[in-house]
Amino acid sequence: MLKARFITDKDMCKAAVDRRIYSSFIEHLGRAVYGGIYEPGHPEADKNGFRKDVIDLIKELRVPYVRYPGGNFVSGYRWEDGIGPKDKRPQRLDAAWRTLEPNTFGLDEAVEWAKAADTELMMAVNLGTRGLEDAVNLLEYCNIDAPSSYAEMRRANGHEKPYGIKLWCLGNEMDGKWQTGHKTAEEYARIAAETARAMKRIDPSIELVACGSSGSNMPTFPEWERIVLTEAYDAVDYISMHQYYENYDGDTLSFLASSTDLDRFISTVETAADYAKAVARSGRTIGISLDEWNVWYHVRREDNKRMEDMPWTAAPPLCEEIYNVEDALVVGCMLITMLRHADRVKIACMAQLVNVIAPIMTRTGGGCWRQTIFYPFLHASLYGRGTVLESVSKSGLYECSKYGDVPYLESVAVLSESEEEVTVFAVNRSLSEDMDLSLDLRGFSKGSLIEHLELRHDNLGAINTEKEERVRPSARKDSTFSDGSGSIILRPASWNTIRIKVR
Ligand code: AHR
Repeated sequence: MLKARFITDKDMCKAAVDRRIYSSFIEHLGRAVYGGIYEPGHPEADKNGFRKDVIDLIKELRVPYVRYPGGNFVSGYRWEDGIGPKDKRPQRLDAAWRTLEPNTFGLDEAVEWAKAADTELMMAVNLGTRGLEDAVNLLEYCNIDAPSSYAEMRRANGHEKPYGIKLWCLGNEMDGKWQTGHKTAEEYARIAAETARAMKRIDPSIELVACGSSGSNMPTFPEWERIVLTEAYDAVDYISMHQYYENYDGDTLSFLASSTDLDRFISTVETAADYAKAVARSGRTIGISLDEWNVWYHVRREDNKRMEDMPWTAAPPLCEEIYNVEDALVVGCMLITMLRHADRVKIACMAQLVNVIAPIMTRTGGGCWRQTIFYPFLHASLYGRGTVLESVSKSGLYECSKYGDVPYLESVAVLSESEEEVTVFAVNRSLSEDMDLSLDLRGFSKGSLIEHLELRHDNLGAINTEKEERVRPSARKDSTFSDGSGSIILRPASWNTIRIKVR
């Protein structure tokens, strides 16, 4: 049995959790929109064609923002194609995903859908094939209450009041050669800074996210961040990060340690942003928007191959990862890592939300279900709001080929908004040994266990399907904790949510 200690203190507050870290992402990609959130004629569809069964699952996750409409898709998108009478909207080729885009779901539908799903849009502008002028036109359409032409266009489409969209992404993954309209750091820095300044002149209340690196392995990282932020520091509020992890070679011990890479990635972006802050002689700190993150590899290579000569069809199934137990553990470790950086990571979007690398799957014409990764996200979103407490965790180390020595325990504590509950999120990375976890919650006069939720399965490859939810959390009945001590056992390869009532 492994022994571990987790020590925290009521007075050692790290940072408030920004609820926007529980955001997600819907792109016009595969069956995310068509056959995912939007399926007119489906028995569960409402009058707008939005699937209510899918909306119910999204509401369970309490997702504050949904990034839209891409992703790679946005870099070739003409937003005007998706507004106005549906029978007049053009079908277009989307070169990013080699797909026919019918445009029957566009901006106005997305805003309506977000309302129905109790969420808000985080809108991305096209800085690939388009630029500053279209970005401000789109912003005018969405947010302006003047008798000006794009605002009138919105009114003519039946939307009198502005949408008041507050969060905007200045393009998508512009550092990647795969991106339509890919740019060098210098080229992107100029267009991002100028677009940002123009957008803020139209609506000073918005917040803007500049593109950072598409992954920690990008050759231009972290020079990209330095160049972009040095040019645009005054004009933007956040720098983005994207990160997906994979286990192509079946090296589970390394895969489970992926969050150590995320931890370093975040720290380096912080450093680059602070360097730019010093150069700008600014008193303002740029936050991080980790606006694409997840595990992605099960069908990725196959999809890439398939896309080379795929016929042009609407909503072909793409990126339909079926997630297993070890994927859920990596997702859990990533959430813990984000929380540990709560002072800088202010926005994070699990990529994506439905069907495409997603916690929620649907069958077109059929049901919908929760994937394994749904659960760590759910627990963090429900119980990880409040204040992250500084903590020290002591557990043994294991050696893995990708990241060297890695602790068995990944953990963080969040003091709830009401301050009457401390939740410890913990992953035991050992594949074979139980972990006896001692919790030392200093400064709290009393503590008693509310519940200990566990997600695990004897088979790390177990998955959920429409017919059967094999991987779901259960409450550990044998865990105890009162007056500061007890017995909490974290089973091998498990995600744990330990909720303690405190005073
Ligand atoms: O989320 C899927 C894709 O991954 C997005 O379109 C792109 O931004 C990233 O490469």
